[in-house]
Amino acid sequence: MKDLVSLCTRKGFIFQSSGIYGGINGCWDFGPLGVELKRNLKDDWWYNFVQQRSDIVGLDASIIMHPKVWEASGHVEQFHDIVVDCKECKHRFREDHLEAKVCPDCGGELTEPKAFNSMLQTRLGVSDESAVNTYLRPETCQAIFVDFKEVYSSSRMKVPFGIAQIGKAFRNEVNPRNFIFRSREFEQMEIEFFCKAENEEAVFEQWKADIWKWYLDIGLTESKMRWYAHPKESLSHYSSRTEDVEYEFPFGWGELQGLANRGTFDLTAHTKASGKDLSFFDQQANERFTPSVIEPSAGADRATLAVLCNAYHEEEVEGDKRIVMKFDPKLAPIKAAVLPLVKKDGIAEMAQDFEKTLRKKFNTFYDQAGAIGRRYRRMDEVGTPFCICVDYDSKEDNTVTVRDRDSMEQARMPMAEVAAYIQTRCSNERD
Ligand code: GAP
Repeated sequence: MKDLVSLCTRKGFIFQSSGIYGGINGCWDFGPLGVELKRNLKDDWWYNFVQQRSDIVGLDASIIMHPKVWEASGHVEQFHDIVVDCKECKHRFREDHLEAKVCPDCGGELTEPKAFNSMLQTRLGVSDESAVNTYLRPETCQAIFVDFKEVYSSSRMKVPFGIAQIGKAFRNEVNPRNFIFRSREFEQMEIEFFCKAENEEAVFEQWKADIWKWYLDIGLTESKMRWYAHPKESLSHYSSRTEDVEYEFPFGWGELQGLANRGTFDLTAHTKASGKDLSFFDQQANERFTPSVIEPSAGADRATLAVLCNAYHEEEVEGDKRIVMKFDPKLAPIKAAVLPLVKKDGIAEMAQDFEKTLRKKFNTFYDQAGAIGRRYRRMDEVGTPFCICVDYDSKEDNTVTVRDRDSMEQARMPMAEVAAYIQTRCSNERD
């Protein structure tokens, strides 16, 4: 983990927020490479679960919602962590994270456990008198329930169907830890899939299969993944069944995403609190009902962390150590680097022109600094799947070498064919 965190900082994937002020706990910034990686991951999720499916539509709702939403959803009452404080050093801990009954930092005595609501509060309004207290959403899905009727009637969707959303969520986590694994500001990728009560179990099982396949499609190693079924007593207030996909991070197994059966909890709660009917009328069956909800809820940051951990490799090449990030090409921040063999004799200019034509199609990088071997290594370290070398022969016959990151093999190819070759290899189309 230490090596990965150091690479992430050094290469501009992820660094701590507000670093020049000493950082702020639980908040992270995605740098030039990290933003590309996370964006590719979110785009692939959206492509796979929204654009490729006629039974799911998207939503991009506001982060700040009416405070009554959080009363109706049960978050004001129930979104609690049980915490204890150290009487000596005053540090606070989640009770379920403690291994012993004393402070893990100083050995001091702990207070009695108490409930701590982990929603982040904010004030909305232009004067102290008129401002109202509300919250930064702790999960993205509540807007999907609140907007349920508007979405299905405007898009003419019929149950069974789903609404998907990617967006920021905020939780005042007691102990943010393990790099970006547990943060206070993070992104969720959630789907609320609405179905009839009698189909809940079948829909749940189908989602188990679909979710698993997506993680394999983005390149995670199957033996590092497992399902964890929550026992009844640890279920969230809204769920009758929850299973998590877990990934074996270097710090141990951790939750990547949840899959929950929320039944009719949320639509019923919002109907009751708002007085607005959120049922669905099935014209064919001539019946009105409140749909059940199966919820696949993923974390974009946790998936990005799993991709980073899974990609990290150290290899020995001709007596040298190489660090290589073996990202699936469709997620790689940079798809291709163009490297002139030498800077002179018009080779650099030719390489620069070629890089400009490739840049129109995908993210590329041009590098002429240092020995060619070192330039390859730099690209390996940031997971660039293809390095294109422009040399003297290129001037003669318009061909280049294309080096594969993982096998390190080089193939000679006409320049006119390179873009199509890379696009095919980096495509997120599935069979
Ligand atoms: N709407 C259901 C829900 O929010 P959750 O299990 O609390 O369920 C879903 O969160 C996912 O959001 C988690 O599996 C995880 O990937 C991500 N997540 C939750 N809390 C997080 C945190 N503090 N930091 C990073 N990701 C988090």
